[in-house]
Amino acid sequence: MSDYDQLFQSALVEVDNAMDSELLEKTRVKFLGKNGLISIELKKISSLSPEEKKTLGKQLNEFKNILLKKINIKKKNLDNEEIEKKLLTEFSDPSMPCRDQSIITSKIHPITQTIEEVVSILGSMGLSYAEGPDIEDDFHNFTALNIPENHPARQMHDTFYIKSDEKKEENNVLRTHTSPVQIRTLLKKPPPIRIFAPGRTYRCDSDVTHTPMFHQVEGLIVEEKINFANLKWFLTKFCKIFFENDNLKLRFRPSFFPFTEPSAEVDINCSFKNGKINLGEGEKWMEILGCGMVHPNVYKFCDLDPKLLSGFAFGMGIERLAMLKYGMPDLRSFFENDLNWLKHYGFSFLDQPDLNWE
Ligand code: DAH
Repeated sequence: MSDYDQLFQSALVEVDNAMDSELLEKTRVKFLGKNGLISIELKKISSLSPEEKKTLGKQLNEFKNILLKKINIKKKNLDNEEIEKKLLTEFSDPSMPCRDQSIITSKIHPITQTIEEVVSILGSMGLSYAEGPDIEDDFHNFTALNIPENHPARQMHDTFYIKSDEKKEENNVLRTHTSPVQIRTLLKKPPPIRIFAPGRTYRCDSDVTHTPMFHQVEGLIVEEKINFANLKWFLTKFCKIFFENDNLKLRFRPSFFPFTEPSAEVDINCSFKNGKINLGEGEKWMEILGCGMVHPNVYKFCDLDPKLLSGFAFGMGIERLAMLKYGMPDLRSFFENDLNWLKHYGFSFLDQPDLNWE
């Protein structure tokens, strides 16, 4: 038996007995690591005679290679065994039912849902999407809409003003309504025009029925020979589809907006039972939007001839439409990001109303 036989034997047995890759690695370090038993023996031979160095060094190196090969084969086997074991224990069954949906399902915010409903109806009624910036200038937000400086309507809007640079005389504003998109559209291309413009609007006001940021959708139809009857028909159709109620009655109440003449506010009929509002039944009225025939001055501000054109416009609050249709009691909750509220009032992607206009 050589001097090393016992060491070699124990190394081979330990490799055979290693039950997993962790133990095998420990065995490798024990014998072949930097301070391993075989590495130490190899260091020792430097002090021996050249003859001994040759024979013992050869023996040690040969065994080192044998052991390394054995470790590598064993490692491959252990890795395969571990994969097999994982495949058996971590098997996933694709036919298993999924987790509780109420925990992981996301919901569409009622504002997004309402905008999408309004957009889909107005789109199917032949209007196209238009947009304008949230930061507007005085001309688009007021002047061209026939709201001159010092007009009381400017005060009514509780405007957020934005300081512009010193060279500019006028301040910019956060748009107080979506009506400036009317002006941008009329200036961009000549009529016929049939557009709707949903978006954010801002007023310096905050209480139970007002939030500093809210949403509106604007509508504008300008062609030749458009009259008030067209406006009544259009909005009646829209409201019946939106509220999914063919019996809904509309009341056009004379009103005032500087950019329309005549102007009207539109109410829908409803009743109240046990604190709940029921739309489309009863003799009570609920205001939902403003509208009117485009004022001749608006055409003039857009370099168009009021004698050749006629059209109607309308504007409605998205939150108001949503509250009436879906029964949310408090406007402020739209913006509080309360997950319980969203879970209750939010919408599923799969459960959408059928709002097409035939
Ligand atoms: N811009 C108005 C507001 O914010 C709403 C409105 C009324 C828009 C009449 C219109 C309209 O286009 O014709 O109060």
